[in-house]
Amino acid sequence: MAIAIIGLSHAAPAPDRIMNRAPFPSPTGIPKASSAEDTLTKLAIAAMGSEDGYSRDKFPHWITQSGTCNTREVVLKRDGTNVVQSAQCEATSGTWKSPYDSKTWTDAEDIQIDHMVPLANAWRSGASRWTTDQRRDFANDLVRPQLWAVTGSVNGNKSDSSPDEWKPPLSSFHCTYAEAWVAVKGYYNLTITSAEKGALSDMLATC
Ligand SMILES: *[C@@H]1O[C@H](CO)[C@@H](O)[C@H](O)[C@H]1NC(C)=O
Ligand SMILES: *[C@@H]1O[C@H](CO)[C@@H](O)[C@H](O)[C@H]1NC(C)=O
Repeated sequence: MAIAIIGLSHAAPAPDRIMNRAPFPSPTGIPKASSAEDTLTKLAIAAMGSEDGYSRDKFPHWITQSGTCNTREVVLKRDGTNVVQSAQCEATSGTWKSPYDSKTWTDAEDIQIDHMVPLANAWRSGASRWTTDQRRDFANDLVRPQLWAVTGSVNGNKSDSSPDEWKPPLSSFHCTYAEAWVAVKGYYNLTITSAEKGALSDMLATC
């Protein structure tokens, strides 16, 4: 009986199995395109909510993850190569390849940790109704593909934009970008606008 069950599970992998398929160190939890397309059809469509009351302070980050290491430092270690950290967990050397523009950096100062779904976008698509604890979990999420180590200036250009307003300069990354965006919005039950849905659908079509 046990053998039959094992055989079955090998023959029929869960269709929504998530995996890490980017060609460089990256977050976990990136779904396959087919799974992201399915999730996209289920996301609730709504106009952008008000930004009233929003502040980054309402999404506490970067929190301590373990020892002296905060979330930013954990992501720098996770997504870099040969990262050396000080006793305070500061990245003192390493190499980071930014998936948004394919540029490589060797000084962690040049890297920002991007929230795939920006905090302000989350606020306007559902997070204004969350508790501060829920917003803290969202802003420091190491499980879903929400945190990306990217070129600081590119992150500055993205700002709080949704995919209909801004896409990463590296077009070959648009597929993964949309997969990650949809996974985060789906997990957190955030709404999308119809323009956002159109852009995501176009990006998933490049997968
Ligand atoms: C940021 O956006 C400006 C204006 O679109 C563009 O000229 C510049 O190259 C962008 N910078 C990066 C790093 O992508
Ligand atoms: C999203 O909504 C589902 C269904 O209502 C709920 O079970 C789940 O806990 C929600 N997810 C989050 C992160 O709040």
